Amino acid sequence: MMTNKGLALVQRDASGVDLAFRGDVLEGLSASPKAIPARWLYDDAGSQLFEDITRLPEYYPTRAETEILQTRAAEFADLIGPGRAVVEFGSGSSVKTPLLLSAIEPASYVPLDIAGDFLRAAAADLAQKFPGLPVHPVEVDFMRRVELPEEVADQPKLGFFPGSTIGNMVARTAVDLLRSMRETLYRENEGGTGAQLLIGMDLIKDEDVLVAAYDDAAGVTAEFNCNLVRRINRELEGDIPLDKLRHEARWNDDYARIEMHLVAQEAIGFTVSGEAFGMEKGETIHTENSHKFNRRTSNMLLLAGGWEPVRRWLDAEERFSMILAEARPPRSAP
Ligand code: AVI
Repeated sequence: MMTNKGLALVQRDASGVDLAFRGDVLEGLSASPKAIPARWLYDDAGSQLFEDITRLPEYYPTRAETEILQTRAAEFADLIGPGRAVVEFGSGSSVKTPLLLSAIEPASYVPLDIAGDFLRAAAADLAQKFPGLPVHPVEVDFMRRVELPEEVADQPKLGFFPGSTIGNMVARTAVDLLRSMRETLYRENEGGTGAQLLIGMDLIKDEDVLVAAYDDAAGVTAEFNCNLVRRINRELEGDIPLDKLRHEARWNDDYARIEMHLVAQEAIGFTVSGEAFGMEKGETIHTENSHKFNRRTSNMLLLAGGWEPVRRWLDAEERFSMILAEARPPRSAP
């Protein structure tokens, strides 16, 4: 059973160029240091490369989180209970989402995603796996408060945000998103059962393990990073010399994050959409952050976003965490 709401969200110029993409790239290449938002890594080729990354021996997060979902089904059933609308922030993974849905007997499933094609395909796949479960995909930018379909208005909500995607945001954006999620899932004066959020957050660990996860021996993550340059050259009439750039994964200890960079191997000049840019030897384009957490920093982030942590699970090797949190009314007293 599947309904669908939404509208095309991408704005293009007469020649088909994605205006937001061009704006972010030109602004990012003009900035110092150069940085382009990580969301642009995910065109079709980038999304496929990310799928490949999740199967790499060095990239543990997907396996670790799946293990938690597989082994903790009884506890999820107990703490979450049946009858909730599961609102997934993102199109849903073909492995993780069914594990959660099988554990908790939800009333409905509402995936939210800006990429309509992916969203519809993933939702159709899910509807087939769970016949009888109402599925309501909504094509939307979930970084802002989302108007959920009327059909789920009276159902208590469980937000689901796996994969440690929250770690790809700087703290301020992450808090903004958590607050928007709360507004989407929880109506203060509605009474009844409060909203819950089940979120995956990757853990701080040995630098060598972290760097290897983002700079694998087979070079798939390097391809994923370089694909952004291919996309710029193709879609924005760029001539960035990809052979003069090298993928680098760096641990930034002050911010507890892995950073992906493209490092110039020599001084280079290039144009994008008719604008000229230059890079010194060693200068980088910063393309992604992946923040890592410990118990205190994940609790702090969730609390700042209006969510009170109620339970935390780790995989057997303690590499990854899943946290169940509840929306609570704001309070300033202790
Ligand atoms: C999507 N996101 C959680 C991945 C991560 O681990 O930060 C993206 C990624 N980038 C390189 N490898 C994986």
